[in-house]
Amino acid sequence: MQNNVDIFAAENCSRTFGHGKKLVTAVDRVTFNIKDEEIVSLVGGSGCGKSVLAKIMLGIYHPTTGTFKYKGSPITNQRLHWREVQAVFQDPFSCFNQFFTIRSQLKDSLNIFPDKPSAKEIDDIVDRALLAVNVQPPEVEGKYPFELSGGQMQRMLLARIFILRPKVLIADEPTSMVDACVRANILDYLMKIKQELRMTIVFITHDIGLAYYVSDRLFIMHKGQIVEQGTPDEVTLTPKSKQTLELLDDIPDIHRQWIKR
Ligand SMILES: Nc1ncnc2c1ncn2[C@@H]1O[C@H](COP(=O)(O)OP(=O)(O)OP(=O)(O)O)[C@@H](O)[C@H]1O
Ligand SMILES: [Mg+2]
Repeated sequence: MQNNVDIFAAENCSRTFGHGKKLVTAVDRVTFNIKDEEIVSLVGGSGCGKSVLAKIMLGIYHPTTGTFKYKGSPITNQRLHWREVQAVFQDPFSCFNQFFTIRSQLKDSLNIFPDKPSAKEIDDIVDRALLAVNVQPPEVEGKYPFELSGGQMQRMLLARIFILRPKVLIADEPTSMVDACVRANILDYLMKIKQELRMTIVFITHDIGLAYYVSDRLFIMHKGQIVEQGTPDEVTLTPKSKQTLELLDDIPDIHRQWIKR
């Protein structure tokens, strides 16, 4: 990829739903760029438009006005887009089918590529991915999603990322279902994956402390808008918006240690 082309570029990009009195402006005239291998966090309270913006990045929603580009072009072919841009969503159970074993689904995830590896290679790829997230392959052998805990399922999502090796990962609150200790582990895996795969990551959270720890830049969202963007130090040391100050007040104690402020 040319170094000077942005991974994502949004210009006055909005996404509305419904019309008339029921019009909801989920994303409201956002303008930003995300560079190759950057980690950017979208931070904001519930309903501020983070997941809708994530779905625009995934090509699931198109902007209603303004433009949104991936590597210089609008997203037209979703399947091709998903070979390079993958997501980890809030609820890992919704990302796996309850009626198939975990292993078969991890193997099937390779179907999005035109050149499928051999059966033996696929087994090796799946084993390596499980080990990368600290799961011994026999632990999940023959198991269905409902037989695993939320934390284990979240690791299965990360294993799938290891298998798919996307250029860009959208992580929508990937740690929301697990306790603080497992959460720190998952973040470490995410950083490990990032280093190994040289990915761009868009990380979505309510917790500005967590965002501070993992990101190169923060975008603070409120009512569909990006009210502030900058490096973690810029945003936390000299907050410019009321919403940033509110988010700083809400940091869970366990994450306050990371903030210099
Ligand atoms: N498909 C849809 N149809 C209508 N309104 C929608 C749709 N998807 C989202 N919205 C609305 O858009 C707004 C932003 O929603 P979004 O899911 O992006 O919030 P969020 O920031 O991800 O919140 P949370 O932190 O709770 O996940 C909300 O008011 C929501 O109700
Ligand atoms: Mg959301």
